[in-house]
Amino acid sequence: MNWLRRGSSEPLWKEEFSVRTADERYVTRRQLTKFLVLTSLGMFVGNIWILVRSIFYKAPIYPQQPIAQLGEIPVGGVKLFSYPTKEDHCIMIRTGEDEYVSYSQKCTHLSCAVYYSQGENRLECPCHNGFFSIKDGTVLQGPPSRPLPRIVLETRGEQLIAIEVKG
Ligand code: FES
Repeated sequence: MNWLRRGSSEPLWKEEFSVRTADERYVTRRQLTKFLVLTSLGMFVGNIWILVRSIFYKAPIYPQQPIAQLGEIPVGGVKLFSYPTKEDHCIMIRTGEDEYVSYSQKCTHLSCAVYYSQGENRLECPCHNGFFSIKDGTVLQGPPSRPLPRIVLETRGEQLIAIEVKG
């Protein structure tokens, strides 16, 4: 079968196909303008959304909750409690005579409960061996990518009060 027109070196289909390859890649000024306008509009709307959210965003208000009496647990001892809601389990460790640290007990990897390893002086997650620093909750080892949220404690008289969650 002959696919060429008589007297022509071009295949027959090329003549019948109306769009040329070179023209397919050609972007008209109108198309470019449309693209730029739509992209700019999208970015403008996104920025307005961020602005509106930042104006109306209210930082969470945490309850002030008594956690323990000073000296209630020995140095190296642990107390478990819930803060700011009953579902948020936390751990407090007495690290020195007058030093207490407290973190969320929920591992930042897949939410297993962390516990205090006194021998290693770190918080450990048994699920995938994630280890956290007792000093600041940062990740020492394992799959967690974020530090443990810290529970801010305040001493009032003889009481330790949880006042805020950070991180
Ligand atoms: S859930 Fe804690 S390390 Fe995976």
